[in-house]
Amino acid sequence: MVSIDGGYSVSVNEKTDVRVAHPDKANSLTYGVQCAFEGCMLDTSGGLVVGNRVWILDGAKVLTHSHPYENRHDTLYWGMEIGDDVIINDNSIILPQVRRIGKGAIIGAGAVVTKEVPAGVLVAGNPAKIRKYYKNELDKH
Ligand SMILES: CC(C)(COP(=O)(O)OP(=O)(O)OC[C@H]1O[C@@H](n2cnc3c(N)ncnc32)[C@H](O)[C@@H]1OP(=O)(O)O)[C@@H](O)C(=O)NCCC(=O)NCCS
Repeated sequence: MVSIDGGYSVSVNEKTDVRVAHPDKANSLTYGVQCAFEGCMLDTSGGLVVGNRVWILDGAKVLTHSHPYENRHDTLYWGMEIGDDVIINDNSIILPQVRRIGKGAIIGAGAVVTKEVPAGVLVAGNPAKIRKYYKNELDKH
């Protein structure tokens, strides 16, 4: 069972998949206000904390567990925090080792994110790299 706790004005469409990958683990999802989860997949195994006004869009996958090469029957979990005002665009993949996506960051469509993302940047590509700084934009929030 997934423990879900969230704020008001949240938009979730019928294609969104909140996945119980390993029921014995944290499996919790908390989110803030005015979020949109539109056809994405959220793996809650490691525990996922989503801020306010976060959009996670069509085909995006947020992963919080994996299997080590040495012993693939073991499972490793990572908690993840996604800051306020983050946009995770279509078909991007956020790998489990990414513990944090900073406030106001934008994940470009199709990105494969392998490392922590600082606040106020655009990351894109595979592996995702910083392409742009949105610092002025971030100051508005
Ligand atoms: C993130 C996004 C909005 C672009 O934001 P932006 O601030 O306008 O960024 P720019 O277009 O100025 O791009 C900055 C650089 O990153 C690159 N870039 C932008 N998005 C990229 C992507 N998804 N993949 C690879 N590179 C990308 C640009 O080519 C540019 O590179 P350059 O500096 O070498 O020219 C856009 O690329 C994107 O991913 N849009 C989402 C599309 C989508 O999912 N739509 C459905 C929404 S419901």
